[in-house]
Amino acid sequence: MSKAAITGIHGYVPDYVLTNAELERMVDTNDEWITSRTGIKERHILKGEGMGSSHMGAKAVAGLLEKMNIKPEEVDLLICATTTPDYVFPCTANLICDMVGIRNVGSFDIQAACSGFLYALTVGSQFIETGKYKKVIVVGADKMSAIVDYTDRTTCVLFGDGAGAIMLQPSEDGFGVLDSIIKSDGSGQSHLFQKAGGSRYPPTHETVEKRWHYVYQDGPSVFKFAVKNMADVSAEIMERNHLAGSDVAWLVPHQANKRIIDATAHRMGIDTDKVMMNIHKYGNTTAATIPLCLFDYESRLKKGDNLVLAAFGGGFTWGAAYVKWAY
Ligand code: ACO
Repeated sequence: MSKAAITGIHGYVPDYVLTNAELERMVDTNDEWITSRTGIKERHILKGEGMGSSHMGAKAVAGLLEKMNIKPEEVDLLICATTTPDYVFPCTANLICDMVGIRNVGSFDIQAACSGFLYALTVGSQFIETGKYKKVIVVGADKMSAIVDYTDRTTCVLFGDGAGAIMLQPSEDGFGVLDSIIKSDGSGQSHLFQKAGGSRYPPTHETVEKRWHYVYQDGPSVFKFAVKNMADVSAEIMERNHLAGSDVAWLVPHQANKRIIDATAHRMGIDTDKVMMNIHKYGNTTAATIPLCLFDYESRLKKGDNLVLAAFGGGFTWGAAYVKWAY
């Protein structure tokens, strides 16, 4: 059976940089607290009227197609992972396709909070493995600044905006997504969620006044959950693929908090110099963190490298993937 090889990667972050110094002027926080508790120094914010996650997703996808010299009409399917869709409907994947000229193929969104890219990678890979499609794009795009409360110091320092896109193509030589695990536990919903704006609490003056359209997070509960489950699922995928820490060229973790990443790497027996890390530049860009890591580290990746991708997020959702790098 073919495997789904990642044959190209591209990323995009908007120009505006929100530094810890600027946040110090907005809320009662300081660079020392943010850096020591999270590892974040700055994040990029999408400014401009009428621009949503699709704007960044389309930039990433257009860049990917140009870089790979692939025409929009050659693409068979596009999946977008996002928690901040432009609209309730149509889905952001439809909008991205329209912006880059991909027409008459399937496109849909996956919503699994910060695990969204890992979920979308898992789904996209199936279409390649079954032989149904030859070119599948998976894009993670999130404009977290649209749902972050910039008066809440416990959340506004954490998030940023960005997008990353990969191309999946069949490999007969053992490269690509060799295994993946996705999990969820909906009983964690109240620890990390946006209460209003969906069908349970549609927008009203009251929901706006109560600030229910912003991210709510019980940070310490999420932290405990993340440390345990991201490490557990990473260990699980290594064990069932007979991988020791020394076999792994790179851990590619969701970038939510440097302390969570360090704990996961420690549990897996992976040295810190083999852990992709760019949280200091971008903060938590939700579905975009993993592809943005791959994009930033692309020049250091070698054909045949064993990668373990790991993520966790609201839901709770979490998972891991074992990828053999294809180029
Ligand atoms: N600046 C200064 N002080 C702050 C700030 C801030 N920005 N935020 C909180 N504090 C204070 C708190 O008020 C508290 O003060 P108190 O002791 O006087 O009450 C103190 O710092 C400690 O707060 P904690 O919340 O206990 O700090 P903690 O060490 O847990 O760090 C953090 C908070 C960074 C949010 C951490 O809990 C964390 O990273 N949690 C997980 C976040 C995460 O990974 N989210 C996943 C998102 S994924 C998705 O699906 C969207």
